[in-house]
Amino acid sequence: MAGYTHLAFRRALRELGGLGLATTDLVHATQLNAGHRHSLELIETHADDDPLSIQIFSGRDQELVLAAQWLERRGYAGVDINMGCPMAKVNGQGGGARLLCDADDATRLVERIVSAVHVPVTVKMRLGWDRDSICAPRLARRFENVGVAAITIHGRTRSQGFQGAVNLEGIAETVAAVKQIPVIGNGDVRTVEHALHMRRVTGCDAVAIGRGALLDPWIFRKLKDNAAGEDIRDPSPDEQLDFLARHFRLMTEQHAERSCQLFRKFAAWYGAQLGVPDDLEQRMRLFQSIAEFDEIVSEIRERHGERRTSVATALIKVPNGPVERWWRVPVFARGWKA
Ligand SMILES: Cc1cc2nc3c(=O)[nH]c(=O)nc-3n(C[C@H](O)[C@H](O)[C@H](O)COP(=O)(O)O)c2cc1C
Repeated sequence: MAGYTHLAFRRALRELGGLGLATTDLVHATQLNAGHRHSLELIETHADDDPLSIQIFSGRDQELVLAAQWLERRGYAGVDINMGCPMAKVNGQGGGARLLCDADDATRLVERIVSAVHVPVTVKMRLGWDRDSICAPRLARRFENVGVAAITIHGRTRSQGFQGAVNLEGIAETVAAVKQIPVIGNGDVRTVEHALHMRRVTGCDAVAIGRGALLDPWIFRKLKDNAAGEDIRDPSPDEQLDFLARHFRLMTEQHAERSCQLFRKFAAWYGAQLGVPDDLEQRMRLFQSIAEFDEIVSEIRERHGERRTSVATALIKVPNGPVERWWRVPVFARGWKA
C-alpha cells in the first residue's frame, strides 16, 4: 500500500511472524529507470525482508520491461505489475487499472515482460474497469498462458474505488479461470475469520492483506497460529506499544532524523488504536527528534489506559480516484485493546 507498507513497516511485521510474500508500494517504472531517489527508497530492502516483490507501474511497455530487467539484475525476487491502481494520474498515463481496458495490449505487455526476465512476474489487478466490463477471469487465463507466475485479484472494479463490499464471486470466477497458477484473493480481510471465509468461498490459494495489516499487524501471526492449530492471541498493550516503538526505530535505520517527519502520518492511527492520550497523540504529530520520540513512548506507557481506544475513528486514507469521498473510509478496530 503506497505510503504505508514501507521497509520499516514490513520488517516490523515480519518480526511478529506469519508474513509471507510482501510487495512494495507501486514504483513508477520510468522514474526507477532514471534512478530517482524516491523510487530507490521505495525499493530499499533488507535481508530480513524476504520474500519481497517489487511492484512497478507505467503505461509504457518498454519502461516496464527495462524496469523489470533492472530489478532482476539487482537480485530482487520478483516483479509485480500494477493493473489495479484507480488513481486518475496513474490511469491518465495508461497505467494501473487502465491496462484492464485492452486485453490484447495487456497480454502483449505481460508477455514482453515475462520473456525479458527470469524472475517470477505476477500481476495485481481488479475485476475490471466497471461492472459492465468485468475481464479478470479472461485476463487471468491469458496471463497464465503467457507465463505469469501468479495473480492477485482485488475483488472490486476500478470505478468502485474502495466502495462497496468486495465481490467474492468475482474472485472465485478468476480462480476457476486459470489452470494451475496461484490466485491470491484480496479485499476487506481484517480478521482470521475473513481470510478463512475468502479462501473457503473463492477457492483462492492465498490471501493478500492491505489495510488489515495496519489495523492489526498481528493478523499474519494469527493466521499462522490458526493454520498450525494453535490458539490465537491478541497482543497486550505493552506489545502494541513495543510495535509502535519498533516501527519507528526501524524507520530511523533507513531515514535517520527524517523519520520524525515521516512517522507523523501514523500518529492519528496509532493514537486511535492504542488509546493514546490526546496531548501525547498531538506530540507524536510534532516531535522533532528521536530522543523526543522515546520520551513520548515512555509517557504513553505510564499513562496507558487513560483514553479509551476509539473503535471507529481509525481512518486509513485510500487513494484519490473517480469516486468522491473514497478517501476517508472508517475501518473498525478489532484485536487492538487499550
Ligand atoms: C493507502 C492505500 C494505498 C494503496 N496502494 C497500493 C499500491 O501501491 N499497489 C497496489 O497494488 N494496491 C494498492 N492499494 C490497494 C490495496 O493493495 C488493496 O488492493 C485494497 O486496499 C483492498 O485490500 P484491503 O482491503 O486488504 O486493503 C492501496 C490501498 C490503500 C488503502
